[in-house]
Amino acid sequence: MPLIPLLDRRLIVVTGKGGTGKTTVAAALALAAATAGRRVLVAEVGLDEHVPALLAPGANPVGYEGRDLRKHLRAMRIDPYEALAEYLGLQIGLRGLARRVLGNRAFRQLMDASPGWRELITLGKIWHLEQMKEADGKPRFDLIVVDAPATGHGLTFLDVPRVVGSAVRAGPLRRHAGWVEEMIRDPQRTVLLPVALAEELPVRETAELVERLRDQVGVAVDRVVVNAVTAAPFPPGLDDLDARLAALPGDLVLPGTPSPATLAACAAHLRARHELNARWMRVLADTTKLGLVALPRIARGVRGPDELALLADALVAPPREPSA
Ligand SMILES: Nc1ncnc2c1ncn2[C@@H]1O[C@H](COP(=O)(O)OP(=O)(O)OP(=O)(O)O)[C@@H](O)[C@H]1O
Ligand SMILES: [Mg+2]
Repeated sequence: MPLIPLLDRRLIVVTGKGGTGKTTVAAALALAAATAGRRVLVAEVGLDEHVPALLAPGANPVGYEGRDLRKHLRAMRIDPYEALAEYLGLQIGLRGLARRVLGNRAFRQLMDASPGWRELITLGKIWHLEQMKEADGKPRFDLIVVDAPATGHGLTFLDVPRVVGSAVRAGPLRRHAGWVEEMIRDPQRTVLLPVALAEELPVRETAELVERLRDQVGVAVDRVVVNAVTAAPFPPGLDDLDARLAALPGDLVLPGTPSPATLAACAAHLRARHELNARWMRVLADTTKLGLVALPRIARGVRGPDELALLADALVAPPREPSA
């Protein structure tokens, strides 16, 4: 099947191990989509908000209602309890009552201990957002980008509709779970985008995640984002710069610069980092048989739209073929 451009999907679920850069990637994707003229919604799942601060530094929280952060770009945070209150409100028409029940401590404790409902209700909300239409019948959002919880959770997150589908035999829950399942299993609409770092543990975990997704969940995954990759550190023709620096006489004084030994150590560190990343990218490509999208490590860190823009182009470019 020919690769579908990332921005032509309806739903991109960004997932990966903790701290690999899911939020950064979700925000950069949303920026890329909005810049390309797509009406995009970026939804952060959970209790904290990080996306708005990246896309619009200094912005107030967007909350469950969400808010436009720039042209074509809306951000929201999906708190499962809010989504449940809304769902119950829509279903039984008693939103106020639903809120009172959900505010009850004993009920909350019971819910906190129950598996699965958070993920299902969150996906249900996302399905609802995907279905929203403008007055002219066009979808309200061309693309929804979800910043999903870290993997482990990430997998249950997508597996829940199937679990509910097989456990609940009839009624509205069954029907709704079916719609959610239809959405996430449709490779034209939904893709899961794993984010990894090119290091041993994240690479092994990502390979496992991809395998389980293929075997158990049936969600499309067509590329892996490898974040914070250290680029080739030396200019062309100077591939042995670290060795050249190390060969300088130790007592050489270069005005305004550290000693040759210090420079050589820094250069050797960069080379080692680059080679480590390159090695683990090869392993990742070999084990997953997927194309990789490499994003550069930005030395100053990712603080706002300027840095996101540096990642956005690479992110939406076609992935590097596994064999390349
Ligand atoms: N390409 C990059 N270059 C430099 N720093 C980066 C890059 N990508 C992400 N970071 C930094 O790495 C840290 C983790 O990124 P981020 O918050 O996006 O990860 P996450 O996967 O969402 O984490 P969590 O699992 O806690 O939600 C942040 O400080 C972020 O600014
Ligand atoms: Mg995050």
